[in-house]
Amino acid sequence: MPTAPQDTDQDPDRVALFDTTLRDGEQSPGISLNVAEKLEIAHQLARLGVDVIEAGFPATSPGDFEAVQAIAREVEGPIVAGLARTYTADIDFAADAVRDAERPRIHTFISTSDIHITHQLRISRDDVKGQARAAVAHARSLVDDVEFSPMDATRADLEFTAEVVQIAIDEGATTVNIPDTVGYTMPHEFDAYLRRLYELAPGLREVTLSVHCHDDLGLAVANSFAGVLAGARQVECAVNGIGERAGNAALEEIIMLLHTRGDAVGLDTGAVTTEISRTSRLVSRLTGYPVQPNKAIVGRNAFAHESGIHQDGVLKERSTYEIMDATTVGLEANQIVLGKHSGRHALRQALEELGYPVDGAVLQQAFKRFKEIADKKKQVTAMDLEALVTDELREDVPAYALEWFDVEASSRRPPHATVSITTPAGRSVEGSFTGDGPVDAIFRAINAATGVEARLREFRVDAVTGGQDALGEVSVVLELDGRTSAGQAVATDILEAAARAHVRALSLAVRRAQTAVPEPDVVATP
Ligand code: KIV
Ligand code: ZN
Repeated sequence: MPTAPQDTDQDPDRVALFDTTLRDGEQSPGISLNVAEKLEIAHQLARLGVDVIEAGFPATSPGDFEAVQAIAREVEGPIVAGLARTYTADIDFAADAVRDAERPRIHTFISTSDIHITHQLRISRDDVKGQARAAVAHARSLVDDVEFSPMDATRADLEFTAEVVQIAIDEGATTVNIPDTVGYTMPHEFDAYLRRLYELAPGLREVTLSVHCHDDLGLAVANSFAGVLAGARQVECAVNGIGERAGNAALEEIIMLLHTRGDAVGLDTGAVTTEISRTSRLVSRLTGYPVQPNKAIVGRNAFAHESGIHQDGVLKERSTYEIMDATTVGLEANQIVLGKHSGRHALRQALEELGYPVDGAVLQQAFKRFKEIADKKKQVTAMDLEALVTDELREDVPAYALEWFDVEASSRRPPHATVSITTPAGRSVEGSFTGDGPVDAIFRAINAATGVEARLREFRVDAVTGGQDALGEVSVVLELDGRTSAGQAVATDILEAAARAHVRALSLAVRRAQTAVPEPDVVATP
C-alpha cells in the first residue's frame, strides 16, 4: 500500500497527472508543432483534466518560448510548467514564458549519474550540487512552484542523488521528480530505489514525489505504477506514449489503470476519462504519429473482439472479456451529427459542442470542406468533423499549399501525375512525374514543382471511421537534409489526402531546414 508522504495541499489518494506531450513528446523525431497546434493540444489537455502541462523548453528556441507563453496566457486550469537546465539564463527564459499562467511552474534538471556527469556535463559531483542549489534557489526567487529532476537518476549513485535531492528541497523545490531517463530500471528496483530515497532524503516527505519513466524496455507504465505504490503522487506521461526514443509512459494507460484498478490501491487521477479518445486522436493528427491498432486504451482494436469465442462471450455478458467500457474513454464519438443539408449554423454549433469554437475564415473553410464531404458521405459523424476541423486548424502560413492535382493511372502503363502548388511567396508552380504508382507519381510531381528533393520514409493510410464512404487519413514522413518531418491530412479521396499530407510534411521540412539552430554543446536536450 502507498506510504503517501506528501505535500500537505494534495489529497493523498489523488495522483496528479503531469503531461509532457508538448515537451518530451515533441522531442520525438519528426514532430514539430507550431504555436497554434500546441495551443490546441493544451486546451484539450485542460479538458481532459491533467494537473500540469509541461508546455515546452523555452530556452531552446524562440518558437518554444512563444508557445509556452501562449499556453500560459490562454489555457485555464492546469499548472503550466516550462523546462530549464540549471543555467540562470534557462531559468529566466522559463520564468518569463510561464509568468502569465494562473499557476506557473519552473521545472529544472541536472544529471546525477556519473555516466552523464563525466561524459556529457564534464564537471564534478560538487559542481552538480552547486548548480542544483543555485538553480532551485534562483527559480524559487521567481516563482513559488519549482520542480527539480536529477536526470538519469536510476543509473546514478543513490546516495549522491539523495544528497542532491535534499539540497533541492532545502532550496525550496516543491516537487522532486525521479526520471528513469533511459528506460533502464525494473518495477521492483524502482520501488526499492524510491523507498531508500525517502530514507536518505527525509525532506522528500514534505514535497510531492514525481516519477518520469521512459519506455525503452516497455516498462514505462509499470515503472510509473511502481513509483506510485512507493509514494509518488505525480506521474509524468505523454499522450499516446510519445517522447524521446521509445517514448514516455502513456497518459491514457496511467489514467485507465488507476480508473479501472485504482480501488485495489485506493488511488485515482482527476482525469475526465471520456476525453481520452479525442485527445489521442488530436495528438496523433497534429504530430503525424499514428497510434498502433493494438495500443492499449486508444488503439483501434483496444475494445474490439475478433475471435468467435470472445464475441460469443461478450454478446452473452460483456464482463466475460471486457474490463473497461469503450464509452468510458469517449469512444461513442461516432454518432451522426450532421447531414448533407445541414447549414453553416448547424456546423458551427456542432463544432462548438465538440469543443471547437470556430468562426470567421476557419468556419468558412471548414464549411466548404464539410459540404464537399457531406456530398460524398451523406452522413457526417463527430469523428469526421473532428478530423476535418483539426485539418483546417493546421494550415500554417507561409507554407506550400496544394492547388490541384491530376493523375492518370492504369494497369497498362506507369501512372503520370501533374500538380499545382502555391509557394510560400504566393506563386503557382506546376510539376509532373511518371511514377511507380499513383501516390509515388503525385509525391514526385510535388517535389518537382517545389524543387525540394524530400525522400519518403513512411506512408500510411487509415480510415477515420468505418464504412465504405469513410474519410481517408494519410500520414507521411519525409526526410530532408537528415531530418524527418511528418504530415497528415484527411479527405474522402485518399489520393487527395496523400497529396495534402505530403505538401504539409514538405512545408514543415523546409521550415525546419530554414530555422535549424545548432544543438547546444553543453547539454543535449533530455
Ligand atoms: O527523461 C528525462 O530525464 C527528462 C527530464 C528532463 C525529466 O525528460
Ligand atoms: Zn524524459
